[in-house]
Amino acid sequence: MDSQPKGPSNVKRALISGITGQDGSYLAELLLSKNYEVHGIMRRSSSFNTGRIDHIFDKLKLHHGDMLDGCSLRRAVRESMPDEVYNLAAQSHVGVSFQEPEYTMETIIGGTLRLLEAVREICPKARFYQASSSEMFGNAPAPQNEDTPMHPVSPYGIAKLAAHHLCQSYRAQGMFVACGILFNHESPRRGETFVTRKITRALGKIYFGSQSDLVLGNVAARRDWGFAEEYVEAMWHIMQLRESSNFVIGTGQQFSVGDFLLLALFEASMEPANRIHFNAPQYMRPVEIGELCADASKAKREIAWHPRTTLKKLARIMVQADLKLAEREARDAKG
Ligand code: NAP
Ligand code: GDD
Repeated sequence: MDSQPKGPSNVKRALISGITGQDGSYLAELLLSKNYEVHGIMRRSSSFNTGRIDHIFDKLKLHHGDMLDGCSLRRAVRESMPDEVYNLAAQSHVGVSFQEPEYTMETIIGGTLRLLEAVREICPKARFYQASSSEMFGNAPAPQNEDTPMHPVSPYGIAKLAAHHLCQSYRAQGMFVACGILFNHESPRRGETFVTRKITRALGKIYFGSQSDLVLGNVAARRDWGFAEEYVEAMWHIMQLRESSNFVIGTGQQFSVGDFLLLALFEASMEPANRIHFNAPQYMRPVEIGELCADASKAKREIAWHPRTTLKKLARIMVQADLKLAEREARDAKG
């Protein structure tokens, strides 16, 4: 199973781009629990962007870098000399990708290319994980698996598909490059502009009086949502296999945004119906994809991965965390 070179003293080294993001933070925790030396690439920001990793900050080795800056990526690779590289950094918001298509393409396609090249040049035996996305399926009929033809429609989906193809090319050239085609996965650490977290965060704030209304876009949209903590486990398993390949990761269950909203309202015991607004034009996308629903039977078969958290439980986890957060904020505001 495990044929990769290890660093001195037998400790495996991992490098994570996007370590400050939702998945990066859970993956860093997982790898630390497996005794990896964990390096991360974080970008410079005018305000603190380490909120998700502050609790493990002292255990990490962080490198300043940006997916647009090949020099910084090469330096991070040289300084960490990783056995495993997890490429999670991206402009990851599909809606925003319609407004910032060039930046989205640059971080995802150019960034992936720069990191792949740095690895090939500096440590070609390192294993590479690519954060591919179910958004690449676009309008392909559900359920989708590794062999489903992809028809992306958003700049984000198109960029992820191009990066995915780049990865196949480096794999064909002999590198270990594994692609996880992950369906939507959420948590209390989810960015606040993604729909599930936007909902649970708003319910917490409405409950404690610091927000009046929740304004949503297309609540009929359907997704396959799982719990992020379980999805980073799949990333690690995919990277321990003898051969690299592509894996679809998802629950195989599909719900609408409206379904999630109802579950969240139930968990919060709230009924603020007149404060919730749907189909707001500013949150509608120029093109919406059809239905996403994973056929993750390959993952079940080859890495024994299966989701453990239902959407109801996920809604409960997120609502409880956001009620606590809003309560703390309300207390702090009072002084
Ligand atoms: P996320 O929370 O948005 O995190 C994205 C990370 O990328 C953050 O650490 C961000 O830094 C970093 N980043 C963005 N632009 C960068 C740049 N130019 N240079 C360096 N770093 C940059 O996303 P996530 O949910 O953890 O997702 C992780 C990856 O999986 C992404 O590639 C995403 O597209 C992909 N994916 C996610 C899902 C999902 O449902 N979550 C599903 C499929 C695929 P800051 O913290 O400074 O913003
Ligand atoms: N963000 C957002 N905000 N989405 C809304 C809203 C809203 O107010 N109202 C309705 N939606 C709908 C969107 O139109 C979309 O159909 C669905 O909710 C999910 O939107 P997001 O939570 O933004 O996620 P996404 O599916 O577009 O993208 C996420 O999943 C991809 C995997 O399929 C991101 O994490 C991507 O990075 C990831 O690759």
